[in-house]
Amino acid sequence: MNKIIVGIKGITLKLTPKLFGIRKPNPAFKSSFLVHTKIGVPTPVMELRGISKTFLSGKQELNILKGANFSINKGEIVALLGPSGAGKSTLLNIAGLLEHPDSGSIFLGGHNVSGLPDKARTNMRKKYIGFVYQSHHLLPEFSALENVVIPQMIAGENKQKAKARAAWLLDVMGLKERILHRPAELSGGEGQRVAIARALANCPHLLLADEPTGNLDTQTAEVVFDLLLNIIRQTGLSALIATHNPDLAAKMDRRVTLRDGKIIPLDEAF
Ligand SMILES: Nc1ncnc2c1ncn2[C@@H]1O[C@H](COP(=O)(O)OP(=O)(O)OP(=O)(O)O)[C@@H](O)[C@H]1O
Ligand SMILES: [Mg+2]
Repeated sequence: MNKIIVGIKGITLKLTPKLFGIRKPNPAFKSSFLVHTKIGVPTPVMELRGISKTFLSGKQELNILKGANFSINKGEIVALLGPSGAGKSTLLNIAGLLEHPDSGSIFLGGHNVSGLPDKARTNMRKKYIGFVYQSHHLLPEFSALENVVIPQMIAGENKQKAKARAAWLLDVMGLKERILHRPAELSGGEGQRVAIARALANCPHLLLADEPTGNLDTQTAEVVFDLLLNIIRQTGLSALIATHNPDLAAKMDRRVTLRDGKIIPLDEAF
């Protein structure tokens, strides 16, 4: 851990320090996500406008997203459904600023971030978005606690505060007794719970989750999913969660699906 922290300290010089639990404003992002543009009209936490994406498969063009529009407000939890290959992961990667759309715009807190240089997009992503994938991708040589502490220290958090937040997040995820376990010493469901805690480590505004319980058996998936919903509600963030499971989708506030490259409310898909 010492070795890593030395490395982290080198990085912190370049990064903006953050107070525990309080987001420091990003200079590239002058107003907060909580700003209201008009009285009583909240700015969406994230908005996608006219997102298109085509992949080339040999000589064949795959038009996966064709002018998709979507917006999510503060505190909303939205299920993203759609058949395999419909473009859910592609959409999440674009919304999470990991991939560029061919056309269209991405707004975070009312600010168009699509045209930002790569470095600014990376900073924005680190500060405002948390990711959970189907596999936990935890660092194998570190404990559960360290896996949640490390991203905070990379972001410039003080070690004690980072540890306190990590312990709290892991406690909320029901892992109080497992914080010193390494990933190999955790069950699949426990590993995913650590990954969820890690995604929330830097107090993101938006959680993007790509089939976060897809690798778990039905019963474990339900337990982990309930913990995920609980922590999202406790921390007041917004979440867009891709799932194939209609029972889990039913627990969310709203359901949308991808059809013909567009996002439509699930009710309109039938
Ligand atoms: N880099 C790429 N190059 C070529 N085709 C790609 C690329 N990435 C994705 N695709 C294609 O785009 C389509 C959408 O993929 P995507 O992974 O977004 O689907 P999905 O809805 O997440 O599916 P699943 O439910 O199986 O995870 C698929 O047909 C896939 O083969
Ligand atoms: Mg996918």
